Amino acid sequence: MTEIDLRPAALVTGAATRLGLAFARALAMQGFDIALHYHHSKSEAEAAIDEITALGVHCQGFQCDLAGEGVNTLVDEVVERFPALQLLINCASAYTAAKIAETTPALLKQQFEVNFFAPFLLSGRFASVVQRGAIINIIDNKIAFQQNNYAAYLLSKKALAELTTLSAAEFAPNIRVNGIAPGVVLPGSNRTEDYIAWRVQGIPAGRQGHVSELVAAMNYLLQNEFVTGQVLYVDGGESINQRGLNAEDYVPGSGS
Ligand SMILES: NC(=O)c1ccc[n+]([C@@H]2O[C@H](COP(=O)([O-])OP(=O)(O)OC[C@H]3O[C@@H](n4cnc5c(N)ncnc54)[C@H](OP(=O)(O)O)[C@@H]3O)[C@@H](O)[C@H]2O)c1
Repeated sequence: MTEIDLRPAALVTGAATRLGLAFARALAMQGFDIALHYHHSKSEAEAAIDEITALGVHCQGFQCDLAGEGVNTLVDEVVERFPALQLLINCASAYTAAKIAETTPALLKQQFEVNFFAPFLLSGRFASVVQRGAIINIIDNKIAFQQNNYAAYLLSKKALAELTTLSAAEFAPNIRVNGIAPGVVLPGSNRTEDYIAWRVQGIPAGRQGHVSELVAAMNYLLQNEFVTGQVLYVDGGESINQRGLNAEDYVPGSGS
């Protein structure tokens, strides 16, 4: 094995764009070779591979529909190219709005396949072939709420949080498993500034989060070898901002 082959490698899913790319870039800057998974974003993946390779590490793209059969062989394909695989970041996600009563069987299946089945299957295979390493599941701070507008998405992320705990227990001591639950950090392009300002009103920190703060959370979870099975909320406290109805706030007559 060459010296280059011994460099640790990370598989980051959904890494051609947005948060996945930020995690992959940060890992490359720390000396990880990168297995850059993508689905539809081929040209973005090619640009990302060029950018990451320019940082002085190896980076190869792995195209795969995580809702398809390819999920079963992805880890083995990565290990064939990067035998020193040590890290799995489950970041890819499918995010479709629908209330429970509006959710079709196909949508329910698809959201769970991408957001839960894929991390489950990738984690299992990773733990089988990697002797020592770490898994980080990118979840969502909405798991602290009951928002039925994204019912299938939300339930798949809640299941992913449970998987984080369960797999951490099963894979210890050789593989640590943790999660990051981001809040408002990088909203979709359809979210207006006015929408974000409205969301910020519910965030105790009084602002939107920065991508660098999610990267810092990833770095912490990688560096602290005594932390496993945890979900770290990086959301400015939005998830703890739930008071419910309190007797002291009751104004007589307001219930009628
Ligand atoms: N952005 C935020 O502020 C925020 C807030 C809370 C939670 N999160 C979580 O953080 C993670 C990253 O967020 P993001 O906003 O960067 O995500 P995103 O842009 O919505 O999606 C990330 C990637 O997932 C991939 N993906 C979707 N369906 C797939 C499939 N069937 N097979 C394979 N890949 C598929 C897509 O890859 P291609 O483009 O290659 O098709 C996409 O680029 C997600 O898990 C999300 O739930 C983000």
